[in-house]
Amino acid sequence: ASTAATSVSISGDISSQLHGGYSHPLARAWQAERQLTKSMLIYPLFVTDNPDEETSIPSLPNQKRMGVNKLVPFLQPLVAKGLKSVILFGVPLNPAVKDALGTAADDPQGPVIAATRLLRRAFPRLFIVCDVCLCEYTTHGHCGILHEDGTLNNTLSVDRVSDVAMAYAEAGAHCVAPSDMNDGRIRAIKLKLIEAGIAHRIVLMSYSAKFSGCLYGPFRDAAGSQPSFGDRRCYQLPPGGRGLARRAIQRDIAEGADIIMVKPATQYLDIISDAKEIGKDMPVAAYHVSGEYSMIHAAAKAGVFDLKTMAFEATEGILRAGATIVVSYFTPDFLDWLDN
Ligand code: PBG
Ligand code: ZN
Repeated sequence: ASTAATSVSISGDISSQLHGGYSHPLARAWQAERQLTKSMLIYPLFVTDNPDEETSIPSLPNQKRMGVNKLVPFLQPLVAKGLKSVILFGVPLNPAVKDALGTAADDPQGPVIAATRLLRRAFPRLFIVCDVCLCEYTTHGHCGILHEDGTLNNTLSVDRVSDVAMAYAEAGAHCVAPSDMNDGRIRAIKLKLIEAGIAHRIVLMSYSAKFSGCLYGPFRDAAGSQPSFGDRRCYQLPPGGRGLARRAIQRDIAEGADIIMVKPATQYLDIISDAKEIGKDMPVAAYHVSGEYSMIHAAAKAGVFDLKTMAFEATEGILRAGATIVVSYFTPDFLDWLDN
């Protein structure tokens, strides 16, 4: 009789023996292709046109809409803990500034441009991404300029969206990220950046595979960007549209995107994996959106699971699928959690 009891004979197949490879916590960490680090995270910020505003958003726990004057004190401790990047969303609260063309989007005094200039000065090493869209600035709340029948006028929208992207880039954004989904906007933005002689220092991140659905609700509460009629299904992708997403990703790479994004994230892990395969030579970003974040908070509050455990599980799933960048409302939490 052998000294130790064993279920395999030494002359037989031993490929079934896996436990040894992950018995230690460090060995478990080594099983991941990519581990979550602080530099992978981009934190979304909602910046209003009322400089002293600071308002909680009930449907988006722990997140605030802030005026320009509140930004630096808010970010100081986060930058000290290792925050590397933010993405800015402008939220005009004064309804009088909205119009059919989204004129306020590139107002030099508006919240995004003011915040970009301020943050570049206050935090020289913080990487500033500006979301580029018109829905926060249009009276109708759609992501472009409309025809009389209420459908998107693609030509006018692309022209306008690319002007807005230029304004943000010229104000000091390191990266512009068009989320509008108008056809051809990546090429239009890249061409304007080249023409202006700044294409070599601006990252163009495309929301390439952005799906329509109910997961953007808390964001629209925060940004006041609920469309006044209809929905976004004619320009955001249908949830079942895997082939369409692949085509959108291929197109945006061909048009000059430097980073491609998939959004939402956990419902679309196969799309992230497709993006990784199609864009194998470029970074892939995933936006863990407001509804996904709020859902985890709600479930944790209801006792379904522990918040931190689920935040890690969801984010690690996103990385495993192929993302190397994650836009996440959990970023401030991760800055604490990743230290321990
Ligand atoms: C605007 C935009 C949206 C999000 C990012 N940019 C909302 C939308 O398309 O309605 C959603 C982000 C989130 O839900 O966290 N085009
Ligand atoms: Zn939009």
